Amino acid sequence: MDGQGSGSNGQEGSPEQRLRLTATAPGRLGDAVRLILNHAYDVVATLNPSTEELDALVQFLTDVGYATDARRQEWVLLADVFGLTDAVMPRASDGQGTPATLPGPFYRPDAPALPLGANLCRGGDGVPLVVSGSVTDLGGKPLAGAEVEVWHANADGRYENQDPDNQPEHNLRGRFTADADGRFHFRSIRPAGYSLPDDGPVGQLARRIGLSLDRPAHIHFAVTAPGYRRLVTSIFDGSDPAIDRDALFAVKPGLIGTFRPERAGVALSVVLVLDRDDISQRNLQEG
Ligand SMILES: [Fe+2]
Repeated sequence: MDGQGSGSNGQEGSPEQRLRLTATAPGRLGDAVRLILNHAYDVVATLNPSTEELDALVQFLTDVGYATDARRQEWVLLADVFGLTDAVMPRASDGQGTPATLPGPFYRPDAPALPLGANLCRGGDGVPLVVSGSVTDLGGKPLAGAEVEVWHANADGRYENQDPDNQPEHNLRGRFTADADGRFHFRSIRPAGYSLPDDGPVGQLARRIGLSLDRPAHIHFAVTAPGYRRLVTSIFDGSDPAIDRDALFAVKPGLIGTFRPERAGVALSVVLVLDRDDISQRNLQEG
């Protein structure tokens, strides 16, 4: 792609439009705008939309903005559902680290710090769950003191920040510090799978065009340790009927967990393997 468009019919954009675009300031921002508009011209040339259809697009984007607030990020949902978030995720350098997944729209950076063994469940019923795990490097060395953020949905498949009338603040969220052996453990309740919300403009669009919104049950983890690349991942319930049709294409073989029945509930064991942070970070500033 060279910024000159890739339309099959060569009709995208009038000469004046294309001239103005090539005259914009050089840099990544201008390149991105040119590429996006060239693809938009392709759409216009191919589908010949009406002014009403353009108005509907503008209204959709307006609705996405109105649906976004401090508790809900419809824009993140839009990027996730259409694969943009996944497309720009950093990949492990050698494929041996735990695969990364999208943080999703329900992540909060302010999960409360909790002692090892604490219960994430601040209210609500569910099958008791015990999670134990370890954080290691690629060679299996324990990463003592690693910080492990955890968040997941409740037994109805709802996160607390989409369900504020029924769940306490920070329900099913916590932040743990791994011990000297890189190990951590906590209690909670077994999460249920869920469908991505279809009460907003993104979900309604997905329904209209037939995209799956189902997500198999999972627990999110975000792990940081000095000298290692931050890992954001999820461990999925392999027994969930939606395990093969995740709306976000996040399920990978190394991320399927076994929720093992125990006397008082279920137990899950996880190993989170971090890659060294030796890859220069791309400058994401607007250029
Ligand atoms: Fe999730």
